[in-house]
Amino acid sequence: MVKICCIGAGYVGGPTMAVIALKCPSIEVVVVDISVSRITAWNSDQLPIYEPGLDEVVKSCRGNNLFFSSDVEKHVAEADIVFVSVNTPTKTRGLGAGKAADLTYWESAARMIADVSKSDKIVVEKSTVPVKTAEAIEKILTHNSKGVKYQILSNPEFLAEGTAIQDLFAPDRVLIGGRETPDGRRAIKALKDVYAHWVPEERILCTNLWSAELSKLAANAFLAQRISSVNAMSALCEATGADVAEVSHAVGKDTRIGHKFLNASVGFGGSCFQKDILNLVYICECNGLPEVANYWKQVIKVNDYQKSRFVNRIITSMFNTVSGKKIAIFGFAFKKDTGDTRETPAIDVCKGLLGDQARLSIYDPQVTEDQIQRDLSMNKFDWDHPLHLQPMSPSSVKQVSVEWDAYAAAKGAHGLCILTEWDEFKKLDYEKIYENMMKPAFVFDGRNVVKAEKLREIGFIVYSIGKPLDPWLKDMPTVA
Ligand code: NAD
Ligand code: UGA
Repeated sequence: MVKICCIGAGYVGGPTMAVIALKCPSIEVVVVDISVSRITAWNSDQLPIYEPGLDEVVKSCRGNNLFFSSDVEKHVAEADIVFVSVNTPTKTRGLGAGKAADLTYWESAARMIADVSKSDKIVVEKSTVPVKTAEAIEKILTHNSKGVKYQILSNPEFLAEGTAIQDLFAPDRVLIGGRETPDGRRAIKALKDVYAHWVPEERILCTNLWSAELSKLAANAFLAQRISSVNAMSALCEATGADVAEVSHAVGKDTRIGHKFLNASVGFGGSCFQKDILNLVYICECNGLPEVANYWKQVIKVNDYQKSRFVNRIITSMFNTVSGKKIAIFGFAFKKDTGDTRETPAIDVCKGLLGDQARLSIYDPQVTEDQIQRDLSMNKFDWDHPLHLQPMSPSSVKQVSVEWDAYAAAKGAHGLCILTEWDEFKKLDYEKIYENMMKPAFVFDGRNVVKAEKLREIGFIVYSIGKPLDPWLKDMPTVA
């Protein structure tokens, strides 16, 4: 019986291993983590992450061939294949700060593998890492090997949050990179055999190590670039009277371009797009390619521009100040169907409004008050460190209250901002909301989820990203 151990029980390690366990009943899978509270949650009825379909998968194999444990060393020692799915944050200090990937967690996992291993192992990079990380890991393992042989594989993960289980059940592709040697090829085959339990062979791509590592960074950069492209167009649409949804539809009809991932928004968020592009930029700079680095940097600049443009639009529409005004925030997660707030655009929008002294009343169906307060008081990039390294009781931001109901959040507000595309925001009773708001009442839709015309009939002044401007907004100063 093959035994798999995965180091890191996070958004990737947990769901990925649960699906491997479900699809491969003959394989024993143990997910380990240094965070005892995370492991306790994985072993409880309240899993540490919200992901549609995850509960069912975990419940059907936990205790049979799927286990969660904080006894990291024991399970690593016993495994044939060790996945490493720890966080790879952006460095906040020293060389490459603000860009390069911080491989501290990866390196400590590799050193621990070398310390405890007594049998040969395949070590799989599941985390997203800079190109050539496998070489560094190989050096750490072989220089401390005590006779144990290792093969390093790169097997980046492409799941998206909110659809993780669906993505894992039917991936567009599984990518496995390895050494082009007989031992390397044998290791690739062993991992391919695991995925072949449910993924059609033609979808399992085998490449060299560096191609696999770089493909992951490239895929995220291309995806983020599409969003920045459509968001750049959204600014031009507002200036010209074009409608970004119509432009996206027309552009996406070209089969060479395709219709997916062309929704204009307040900006992309999530734990990876920005981090991985910054990492890519740093690698380009280190390889003497400043033009290539600058090209990709622009994707992040446009994303930052989109968020500040949104904040400026709110402030200028509301007579150039939101000082002391209550603004309701609908949605704080970085996208719908997740409780994840890492790099959510809501953080920058809220901080921008707080900077102009607004009072915020926030509602998100999946995000806790503690998490929101933590996010609004944390420094950039500090979030991507294990929970036990973060402040336990964040100092709360006084001008922020968190409500458990959209209507309560909007009561007495001057304006409301939609920052996550939760389905329930489409179905709210906006007449009731309007009645309980200050007048004029504003809606700033950062996700294009509401029907602007219907809301205007009720009496709202409505701003929707990339849509022809409300007559009220046309008279306001141009947003820089
Ligand atoms: P996460 O923060 O949710 O989980 C990482 C876990 O690793 C944490 O629970 C942490 O306690 C644990 N950990 C850190 N060092 C450890 C060590 N030495 N030993 C044991 N456990 C340790 O992160 P995540 O979202 O699962 O992302 C993990 C990696 O996967 C990152 O490199 C990320 O870029 C990549 N990735 C993430 C996604 C996503 O949707 N979140 C998708 C694809 C790839
Ligand atoms: C993304 C990629 O889609 C995954 O393939 C990848 O594995 C993952 O990053 C990762 O490496 O972490 P994720 O961040 O979970 O997945 O979610 P996405 O659906 O990609 O959305 C990212 C952000 O872009 C969200 O804020 C979303 O609202 C925004 N977005 C997405 C848009 O603004 N417009 C779109 O058309 C699509």
